[in-house]
Amino acid sequence: MCGIVGFIGRHDAAPILLDGLSKLEYRGYDSAGIAVRDKNGDVEIVKAKGRLLNLFEKTDSGKALHGTIGIGHTRWATHGEPSETNAHPHISGSDVSDATVVGVHNGIIENYGEMKDKLLRKGYKFYSETDTEVMVKLVDYYYKKYNCPPGEAIAKAMVRVRGSYALVLMFKDYPDEIWAARKDSPMIIGICDGETYVASDVPAILKYTKNVYYIGNMEIARLKEGSAEFFNIDSEPITKELFEITWDAEAAEKGGYEHFMMKEIHEQPRAVLDTLNSMIKGEGNECKIDFECIGISDEEIKAISQIYIAACGSAWHVGMATQYVIEDLAKIPVRVELASEFRYRSPILDKNGLVIVISQSGETADSLAALREAKEKGVKTLAVVNVVGSSIAREADYVIYTLSGPEIAVATTKAYSTQLVAMYLLAIKFGSVRGHIDKETYSYYISELYTLPDKIKKIFETKDKLQWFAAKFVNVHDVFFIGRNIDYAVSLEGSLKMKEISYVHSEAYAAGELKHGTISMIEDGTLVISVLTQPQLYEKTMSNMVECKARGAYLAAVTTYGHYNIEEVANFVTYIPNVDAHFMGSLSVVPLQLLGYYLSLNRGLDVDKPRNLAKSVTVE
Ligand code: F6R
Repeated sequence: MCGIVGFIGRHDAAPILLDGLSKLEYRGYDSAGIAVRDKNGDVEIVKAKGRLLNLFEKTDSGKALHGTIGIGHTRWATHGEPSETNAHPHISGSDVSDATVVGVHNGIIENYGEMKDKLLRKGYKFYSETDTEVMVKLVDYYYKKYNCPPGEAIAKAMVRVRGSYALVLMFKDYPDEIWAARKDSPMIIGICDGETYVASDVPAILKYTKNVYYIGNMEIARLKEGSAEFFNIDSEPITKELFEITWDAEAAEKGGYEHFMMKEIHEQPRAVLDTLNSMIKGEGNECKIDFECIGISDEEIKAISQIYIAACGSAWHVGMATQYVIEDLAKIPVRVELASEFRYRSPILDKNGLVIVISQSGETADSLAALREAKEKGVKTLAVVNVVGSSIAREADYVIYTLSGPEIAVATTKAYSTQLVAMYLLAIKFGSVRGHIDKETYSYYISELYTLPDKIKKIFETKDKLQWFAAKFVNVHDVFFIGRNIDYAVSLEGSLKMKEISYVHSEAYAAGELKHGTISMIEDGTLVISVLTQPQLYEKTMSNMVECKARGAYLAAVTTYGHYNIEEVANFVTYIPNVDAHFMGSLSVVPLQLLGYYLSLNRGLDVDKPRNLAKSVTVE
């Protein structure tokens, strides 16, 4: 949540900051601001409410500000409404001329009220409602009180605040330095050709450099032109390794598509294939799922008594869908939990259990907290993560990386699809190691998985039909998604896609639950979208559809080619190819993603940046 970019080098900072922020707009987009300074002069700050475009206009695309050092921020409001006053950067003084410290911040300072009172007593004045202004002023307070170097003042503030933060600061007295610090909020530092970048996410700097340092929790960094030094909370220097990012700069561009979401939907065949190839080694019948790089041994897999999956939003839906697959193939009981609930219910975990945390960003605050809860209880953790070097990836005992590349649209599509695939591979691997899958079935599953990319492409051929359907229902108010088993889990995802980008109220129900209350909502014309891909449940869900129709519902269905008798009941059907039933979710979700997309488009909404949302939820 919120995006940070900082730059120190030989070029003018403002255009680089704005460019970086434009790549992070998915992290927050209710206001933005930049602060730029030259090595001698005062800092110049420009802020604008609303989309980043306003800041581009106000600064003539950055050309109006001169200086080779700067910091920028795009905001997703937590404390205080979206406004210019609340937009970052914030300053320690009353105006830029007496500002010793200028800063931007992501995250939440939980005890900011207490800190603010303390600073008010010391004579500080506050102009915004933000916790960030408190943090900047707290650093300023220690900086002046102890007359210490910036790093020590930051450390003193860090030990007094609670919460999560990525903090980037400039000090008036240190004209050629930027300081950064973090706790539980992502931040990377990039170096290239004598210039240095800091950002809350990789896409912001991918165009300039692929060489990055990951700044750890409770660590502080001093950035100079072309270099970065790191310190722990006791101000002792720490050595860090430079990592190379494998993502392409083009991956963070729209590449000819109108929206990132549509581009990312179309990247799914490639992303699924890459994720399969990263773990499946060998050819034909000799293919093997290789977990060597994950580090979990066969003995450890055999000893697992129970799996707990903790995740949020769509990643939780992946857990919901793949619990059936794991239980069926690996015969291990699975419990799926919302990470935000898991962390606060003091879960009773079996010592021989395995907690799986699924997360695209690897930074979701609740998922990270669930992982820590599990570790604290002495239970092994495995993360399924898309972002290399993210907090969840670093803290988990084992990591499976999904290879979807950077996902920019707020509504997840390709990350969801690669998470499904990673979990299928885990289920097959665990099932075979535990002796529940013979060699022939193992090869069959792998060959079925390899058919997914082409089958997803085939679904793209039905786009026009789905666009037509979305146009027909452009003014719909309430939608019900129903399905059973994996189809229910996919319904949850279809419903979320519709809600988050089209703002249409929808609910996903296990089809068998309808009669326990929900069916009273069905009236003439209510749209009910059914997912029917599980052969053993096809007729059961059909019966539920018929019950809805009898109460006036308009029935739409997603089912596999061949099930043409559905047309006797449904008003609209979209067909998808067949694959082994365990993996059907990878196909049935695609028309639902497209439906959400077209509905949002037809309603004239901002598909990639839906209101109130941000991509990476790094606060609770
Ligand atoms: C929905 C969506 C969110 C995320 C959720 C978890 O389209 O993207 O529901 O799935 O916020 O995010 P990660 O996977 O980054 O932990």
